[in-house]
Amino acid sequence: MYEHLTVVKHPLIQHKLTLMRDETTPTNHFRQLLREISQLLAYEVTRELPMENQRIKTPMQEMDAPVLAGRKLALVSILRAGNGLLDGVLELIPSARVGFVGLYRDEETLEPVQYYFKVPEALEDRLVIAVDPMLATGNSSVAAIDLLKKAGARDIRFMCLLAAPEGVARMKEAHPDVPIITAALDEKLNDKGYIVPGLGDAGDRMFGTK
Ligand code: URA
Repeated sequence: MYEHLTVVKHPLIQHKLTLMRDETTPTNHFRQLLREISQLLAYEVTRELPMENQRIKTPMQEMDAPVLAGRKLALVSILRAGNGLLDGVLELIPSARVGFVGLYRDEETLEPVQYYFKVPEALEDRLVIAVDPMLATGNSSVAAIDLLKKAGARDIRFMCLLAAPEGVARMKEAHPDVPIITAALDEKLNDKGYIVPGLGDAGDRMFGTK
């Protein structure tokens, strides 16, 4: 069973994350690194997926071989930065169903405002992995998980690249049943709600905006 917070300290993840944090890393490299880290994190997030045996025949003989059991899992990207994590995970789990939650952060109140919501059917029967690279104040993550639960999701994991202690605490208070899997737990938020030391604005850095 997962702890509320898991920091995946694998050397490959930590090395790639350092490259992503570096302000001189260009957009194309940043995106590639995010894709690679997302796959390494997905390995951890899916570690305990239920399995069942399927009868197959190898060129040598028949055997009962393990396959993933149950409904296809659902990946839910919290737009827009979530898409950077989504792409890599989808390469690893191509049969996953995909949903999107569109929330933007009001820069003054830092509160999330919803503008889009579309998720796969039967969420209650699926493992739902919500992805957003930056768990900062936790406001948008909590709002996204609220919406997913309203849509029926019961087994949710939250995967991010960086987390701030404030965001982790907020998630734990609002959604203690949702494990958080991250590559690093940073020091704090600044007065604009950015994670420090962080890596800046993840969306801008991955899409080359601003
Ligand atoms: N969103 C980002 O992209 N970066 C932060 O540091 C916080 C929220």
